[in-house]
Amino acid sequence: MTEVADPLRTLVAPFASAITAAFGPDYAATDPQLRRSQQPQFGDYQANVAMGLARRVGRGPREVAEAIVAALDVGELCERVEVAGPGFINLTMRPEHLAAAVTAVAGDENLGIAPAQEPETVVVDYSAPNVAKEMHVGHLRSTVIGDALVRLLGAVGHRVIRQNHLGDWGTPFGMLIEHLVDVGAQTGGAIPSIGDLDAFYREARTKFEADADFAERARARVVTLQSGDETTLTLWRALVAESERHFQAVYERLGVCLAAGDVRGESFYNPLLDETVEELEGLGLLVVDQGALCAFPPGFVGREGQPLPLIVRKRDGGYGYDATDLAALRFRVRDLAAQHVVYVVDARQSQHFAMVFAVGEQAGWLGDGRRAEHVAFGTVLGPDGRPFKTRAGGTVKLVELLEEAVQRAEAVVAENGRELHADERSAVARAVGIGALKYADLANDRVKDYAFDWDRMLSFDGNTAPYLQYARARICSIFRRAGEEGPGVGAGAVVVEEPTERALALALLSFDGAVQQSAELLQPHRLCTYLFDLATAFTTFYEHCPVLRADSDQQRSSRLALCDLTARVLGRGLELLGIEAPDRM
Ligand code: ARG
Repeated sequence: MTEVADPLRTLVAPFASAITAAFGPDYAATDPQLRRSQQPQFGDYQANVAMGLARRVGRGPREVAEAIVAALDVGELCERVEVAGPGFINLTMRPEHLAAAVTAVAGDENLGIAPAQEPETVVVDYSAPNVAKEMHVGHLRSTVIGDALVRLLGAVGHRVIRQNHLGDWGTPFGMLIEHLVDVGAQTGGAIPSIGDLDAFYREARTKFEADADFAERARARVVTLQSGDETTLTLWRALVAESERHFQAVYERLGVCLAAGDVRGESFYNPLLDETVEELEGLGLLVVDQGALCAFPPGFVGREGQPLPLIVRKRDGGYGYDATDLAALRFRVRDLAAQHVVYVVDARQSQHFAMVFAVGEQAGWLGDGRRAEHVAFGTVLGPDGRPFKTRAGGTVKLVELLEEAVQRAEAVVAENGRELHADERSAVARAVGIGALKYADLANDRVKDYAFDWDRMLSFDGNTAPYLQYARARICSIFRRAGEEGPGVGAGAVVVEEPTERALALALLSFDGAVQQSAELLQPHRLCTYLFDLATAFTTFYEHCPVLRADSDQQRSSRLALCDLTARVLGRGLELLGIEAPDRM
């Protein structure tokens, strides 16, 4: 798209000129602070720049606002510009301009989403379950949020590299491999398929605790594994492959982008640990503390004010989670050429990442145009307000959760979609069930905990996936009734007359802004809020403006074009969240 459609972008240049004309070139870069007006009586948009600028130029905010307005050349875009209250500048757009802008968005295959000025290489570390353990709801959050971020960052033009930092290495593998041998794994041959990963892990753990012989074998096995013994490695690989099959099944069911090729597990960094440590040592960043090799990044202190270590090499010479993350960060910026590394991990690991990043800064891996960010998220809570558990108090298995989501959605869809064939109904149930589950996770500010509630997430009312999916499906049904094709109907013929048409047009023009903001702040919930507002604006429009029975052909085709664009924006928005949007429900 050549034309910029969102007035929030179009208005920036005229404001810059007006501010420069009124206050001189020193102020040319001042942010006009443009935003949508909350109330229609304050116009469509407002600029809040005067209050801050007044302080800088030492004049009254109203006076400053008036000086900007006097120099502002927006006659072609706006029909009214007014100074209100302490110095707000309220802008009311010309309906012809809004109509033209909507038409431009409708004609753009990206629906107005502008490509990044400076595209970056972004590594997104997400999902990262642990081998021989079932994925749990925490991994669900990481997978769902990470996947939405991957799509959002890609949509605004960044080069995204997905990394599934699988927990596939470490001391537990000694007992897991010995247990595998006990249950009949043939050295060099096939291993028995593991139906229940958690049970397998528990059995190994129980034996490890109860049976001294077994514990001894397990410890010896860790040593042979680390020394690269081929038989042991084969068993280890089989265990990893078996787990990956489980994870891939969950990813497929969830409909996320993660594929087998995105796995770069902890074990990958094994051969890089020595050189990473040597580099940090060479920089003088490591000290020996109680036999362990540690980094003490400045500013991290414990409760008693004692400096906190990042343990780079344990006293027994082994490496752990900290060392692996240091090697991974180094690899990502050096070998993957990442300018931005994003870690979608539980908020409880905040300190770990803050310390890894601090050492990364000290080592010069970060800084100078390269940054790392912990995209933290809160806990999933059950109805009792405590971390989500099964009725028996165990961790909730992801496969079972997805199963239940689809089953519950089947019941909801059966109630609503009587006209659907059985096949179509189960596809819709899948889209609604999985969509509801993902959306419930994405719609909340991610850093907060959220309460898991089947009824709420599957409701057709409120800020839910089914509400958005249904709003879009309803538009598709308008087109079916109209006997029209859909896209392209009335292209170029939008007119904006009624207040509800205007509100819908303004909402449609804000799609780019919502996507940009979600991508930049790494906050998918902003896109959710936008889509909910758009669907609400559409519902109000549809209540007030007859579409198929409009007064004239021109009005009918204009309204069909608004319907069509709304459906496309809802569909694209849901897609960016990783949610399917069925045409019928
Ligand atoms: N496997 C870890 C867990 O389940 C998450 C790994 C996150 N990524 C990282 N680079 N540390 O808690």
